[in-house]
Order: sequence, then structure tokens, then C-alpha cells
Amino acid sequence: MPVLSGASGAEVAESLAPLLDMDHVRVESRRFPDGEAYVRIPAEDIGSIRSEPVVLVSNTYPDSGIIQTILLLGAIRDVRKGDLSNLKGELSEGMDDVGPGIFLAIPYFGYARQDKRFSAGESVSARTVAEVLEGHCDGIAILDLHAPEVLEGMGVPIEFVSSMPEIADSLQNGVGPDFILSPDKGAISRASEVAGLIGCEFSYLEKTRIDAHTIEHTPKDLDVSGKVVAIVDDMISTGGTICRASDALRRQGAIEVHAACTHGLFTGGALSRLAEHVDGVHTTDSLPNPRASVSAAPALARGLRTLIE
Ligand code: R5P
Repeated sequence: MPVLSGASGAEVAESLAPLLDMDHVRVESRRFPDGEAYVRIPAEDIGSIRSEPVVLVSNTYPDSGIIQTILLLGAIRDVRKGDLSNLKGELSEGMDDVGPGIFLAIPYFGYARQDKRFSAGESVSARTVAEVLEGHCDGIAILDLHAPEVLEGMGVPIEFVSSMPEIADSLQNGVGPDFILSPDKGAISRASEVAGLIGCEFSYLEKTRIDAHTIEHTPKDLDVSGKVVAIVDDMISTGGTICRASDALRRQGAIEVHAACTHGLFTGGALSRLAEHVDGVHTTDSLPNPRASVSAAPALARGLRTLIE
């Protein structure tokens, strides 16, 4: 069975394929001079894509990832339908439609944070993106989606999977935290899962976002004096949330502070900023980044097994 990937998601696809006992197929993907995307499934892989269900690993981030995901799904759909007619007349013999069997694995689902209409007239972008994708596949596995509720009642089955077990394992072996902190209420379920798996103390902060670059935490007494603390979140973007939480922990006597998350976006110098506030940063490889130390593949494999079976 093939696990396909374009440019975005190739590393995760490479690790995922053996976990599912499948082969990784890298789809040709490049850009025209005007920036538009081009994809092509290699002729030698058309047979395997038609003979068994297929998995496509692709991120919907940055925006170019959305277009590439749609084009890849379109190419796979046409191959499975037997629609291979082309200008050069290759492979023009009639082929049957082999039916459903296209599963999309999304390591990082971009637009996840626009999960509500915060002001009238806005797009609920997370849902809008998913509605485009669901028209081209038979099931989707999404890794640590910011707020899964936004995709309730979609037209295809969706498996929401999490890398928290792998993050817990990595923190336990590499850091040995005494205390896990959720930097806001939204990350409580993920961070408390990590605390439970490690068997250490847990608490959370309440956060108010002033703007994209500024957040404030409500002051709270935390029993962290002399302790090694790991802050666990779904993603780090500017690093503002982690830096402010780390400052609060240090003020209360934490001796070591680490940051862990699934998705390391690290926008606008975030890694340099974080280096001044935390002792270590640990992420999965859902997005390639210099701090990726945990594989996103096991979690996606769990979801895909459920979808395929
Ligand atoms: C938002 O609620 C998310 O879970 C993260 O806490 C947030 O996106 C992190 O963003 P930043 O690193 O820019 O503070």
C-alpha cells in the first residue's frame, strides 16, 4: 500500500510508511516560474495506487500547502478513477474506477486557530479549509488539531490524533520534569495527559491575548519552587505564550523550564526569543524545524489504522 507525499510532509511520510507496512512514494511536485504548483504521480506508481487504499501525507500550511494538498488529492482521485487521458496519449487504454480508498493524513492543519467567528463577517477558516479537502478524500487523520470541535459533523470520517504520548515519553527520558504547566485553558487536556503519563504535578494558567504578539497571564501561585517544569502546548508560533509562562515560573522559583509542543511554527525570531526564556524546546516533526525531536508518525499511524480498518 502506498503512502504518498509531495514536498510538504515528506519526512513524516517516510517515517509513517514502515509503521503501516506500506511503501513511501514521493510525488513529483514543483513550481512554475509564476509560483503556481505542479504535481505528477510517477507512472511506475499508478498500478499500486489503483490496487490498494492510499494515504496522502500533506500539511495545509503555509497557504501553498493547501493548494498542493488539493492538487495531490485531485491527481490521486483521477488515477483511481482511471481517468488518465492526456495530450501525449500515454496510458490511454480504458481503466475502471477502483472506488473509494483515499486517506489524507495532515501533520499540521493550518488555519486551525480561526476556529470561531470572532467578529461578524469573518470566515471560520478551519472549517472552510476542511470542507474543500473532504470533497476529495474518504477520511482524514489530523494531528493535534487546535480545537477539534470546529470539524464536528464533517462529511467524511475524521480521526483526531495526538502526539502527547510520544511527547510525554520524550520529556520523561530527556528532561525528567517534576511539574507540567498548561500555558492556557485551551491546552489543559493535552498538558494534563502528559502529566498523567509521566506521573507528575500539573497546573494551568489563564491567558488573555491582547494581539498576535502580546498575551497576558492572570497571576497564579504555582508550587514550582526548586522544580523542573515543562510547559506543554499544541503549538508555538511567536513564542510569546511560552516566554510569559516561563517568566511566571522562574519568578516562583522553578529551576529549569522547558517548552514542548506538537507544532513548532517558530515565526519571526521565536527560537532566539525562546532561547532567552527556556532551557529547552521540544517539538514533533509535524513541521520541519530545528527543535523537532519527536516523530509525528506514530500518532498519525494510530488514526490511519482506524480509518482504513
Ligand atoms: C493558542 O491558544 C495556542 O494553543 C498557542 O498557545 C498559541 O498559538 C501560541 O502562540 P504564540 O507562540 O504566538 O504565543
